[in-house]
Amino acid sequence: MKIQERASSPRIRGKWPPPGDKSLSHRALIFAALAGGKTELFRLNPGADVESTAAALRALGVKIARRGERWLVASEGAGALRAPAHPIDCGNSGTTMRLLAGVLAACPFESVLLGDESLLRRPMSRIVLPLRRMGARIEGQKGAAGEITAPLAIRGARLRGAAIDTGVASAQVKSAILLAAWTAGVPVEVREPLRSRDHTERMMRALGAPLRVRGCRIHLEAGAGIAPPAGTVPGDPSAAAFFAAAAAAQPGSRLVLEDVLLNPTRLGFYRLLARMGARVTQRRRRMWCGENAGDLIIEGAQLNAFRIAAANVPALVDEIPVLAVVAAGACRGRSQIRGAAELRVKESDRVSALTNGLRALGAAVEEFPDGLAIEGGKLHGGRIDAQRDHRIAMAFRIAGLFASGPVVITGAAKAALISHPGFERDLSALLSTRRRTSRRSP
Ligand code: S3P
Repeated sequence: MKIQERASSPRIRGKWPPPGDKSLSHRALIFAALAGGKTELFRLNPGADVESTAAALRALGVKIARRGERWLVASEGAGALRAPAHPIDCGNSGTTMRLLAGVLAACPFESVLLGDESLLRRPMSRIVLPLRRMGARIEGQKGAAGEITAPLAIRGARLRGAAIDTGVASAQVKSAILLAAWTAGVPVEVREPLRSRDHTERMMRALGAPLRVRGCRIHLEAGAGIAPPAGTVPGDPSAAAFFAAAAAAQPGSRLVLEDVLLNPTRLGFYRLLARMGARVTQRRRRMWCGENAGDLIIEGAQLNAFRIAAANVPALVDEIPVLAVVAAGACRGRSQIRGAAELRVKESDRVSALTNGLRALGAAVEEFPDGLAIEGGKLHGGRIDAQRDHRIAMAFRIAGLFASGPVVITGAAKAALISHPGFERDLSALLSTRRRTSRRSP
């Protein structure tokens, strides 16, 4: 039997070190600023979101210089942060706004956090209410359905210890509370309904904070200092997921992701690819700030449909856009993504952006309040709106590899700059490796 490879579903073979992990990069800068001293960091994520955190910290008096891959941070510590001269613009970055709101709630001055159009629509009650319970004075705007939204005006206050149930599996919320408690020097207990990414906990512990984790409960004791983080940030498994998806969906592909973060709370996507039929292996090579890093190897196969339920969502929340594209363009059968209402309050309403985009490419999609069901089949070309959301834009770029005609993406100008400025260059390099090897049949 002759299996004809569609010209548009390419094989990917090669090795690639993804850009530094975005979540770790925000935290590394913030902890370097809070700990004080001089520190060198390498391979921070080069996207605009991490630049937003760096710019915000500079506005608070922290010295941050960047020379290529090398970042130098000099700070006199949390107690020396000073009032910003202007409102702080967090751009498109929810992590910048939510984590810094925690720090600023405990600093003895006034500050205002702003963002772009997308960030000004995103829910902030989830951080404002718990921080107020700790004594913070934060005012926001009245958003839709009684939600508090940014701009946030923060008047630093003396915070008190608390036990807080976050009510939502969000690392940003958990981290805002932990950062507020640490900066204020008060104890806190945080409980989340499902475990979200645990970088803040790992980094705090690795830097010397007295923090204990039991299941979904985190306890931070009061008053210990921390050392600044230093060294090379592991690669971003979420940035890598777009290329990993393309490789997993094509028999004969083999992609080695070099020096990537191997934190289990971030690898739900890779575990799912393995359940869908791809071969995924990992080689641990080093530790950094309490995190394992090493290589992830993805070998392609004919993929089967999948089901994602609420319990699976936190470990792959950022990978759902590309998974939806794979479900439509490369899987056999009907895939279901449920329990993912959080997707509606990301950089865009991702459930609606995916439903509309996949339908425009000919996929049969059923939309639910908390997710979508997608019939695997063939995608044709079409025009989709990425809603200025980096992960939607990059996911539909991958859809272009599966589709029989051209996929035109609007609302994507510079979208990849948020998390992976080299996206197009890196994708072309991996695809051209394929062209050089594609004459050999498997
Ligand atoms: C992040 C947490 C997640 C994730 C975001 C980065 C972080 O958001 O979607 O891209 O670095 O803490 P939530 O905490 O809102 O789930």
